[in-house]
Amino acid sequence: MNLSIIQLGTMHLNECLNLDQKSLNGIWSKSQWLRELTNPKRICLGLIELDTKKLLGLCSAWSVLDELHITFMAVHPRHQRKGLGRFLLTDLIKRSKSLQTNHIHLEVKKNNEQAKAFYNSMGFKTIGNRSNFYKDGSDALLLYKETINKSLNQQ
Ligand SMILES: CC(C)(COP(=O)(O)OP(=O)(O)OC[C@H]1O[C@@H](n2cnc3c(N)ncnc32)[C@H](O)[C@@H]1OP(=O)(O)O)[C@@H](O)C(=O)NCCC(=O)NCCS
Repeated sequence: MNLSIIQLGTMHLNECLNLDQKSLNGIWSKSQWLRELTNPKRICLGLIELDTKKLLGLCSAWSVLDELHITFMAVHPRHQRKGLGRFLLTDLIKRSKSLQTNHIHLEVKKNNEQAKAFYNSMGFKTIGNRSNFYKDGSDALLLYKETINKSLNQQ
């Protein structure tokens, strides 16, 4: 597959809505996606298949001081478990390092086993539990990854 990761903009609004719908049953509305795609504090990355121009993966995050908070992460259901999520998240982490990010946080549904396995494989650790976090009443686990380069900071 010929793939490219790009910063998404408003021209990708419908594709974001579509992928959100297919992968997570539509967690964000059109106006929420529009805000996500226009806010300069957000990093919204898309994994594009170059031959078809299709959006196969999507992640979004906001950065405050040295912290990055991941708000959305999904790969098209037909392309899951092919390493695309890892490719996209690794790229996001690489870009966030240039923003001086030292810590990454995110919430994941407690019963979302595939996402928990994915983040676990990417080195995230569970550091908390948020009760009743989601609209359906389910809990979220708070996951954390440190990206600080200790050897450099100790110099
Ligand atoms: C979670 C998600 C983004 C992972 O993306 P992906 O492209 O399927 O994951 P990858 O193929 O890059 O997997 C990387 C590693 O994560 C782990 N992993 C991913 N999916 C897994 C699964 N279903 N079961 C067990 N481990 C899994 C594995 O260790 C895998 O490495 P391996 O295939 O070499 O064993 C994807 O499954 C998805 O979009 N899920 C629906 C949306 C969602 O739940 N998003 C998270 C919201 S917080």
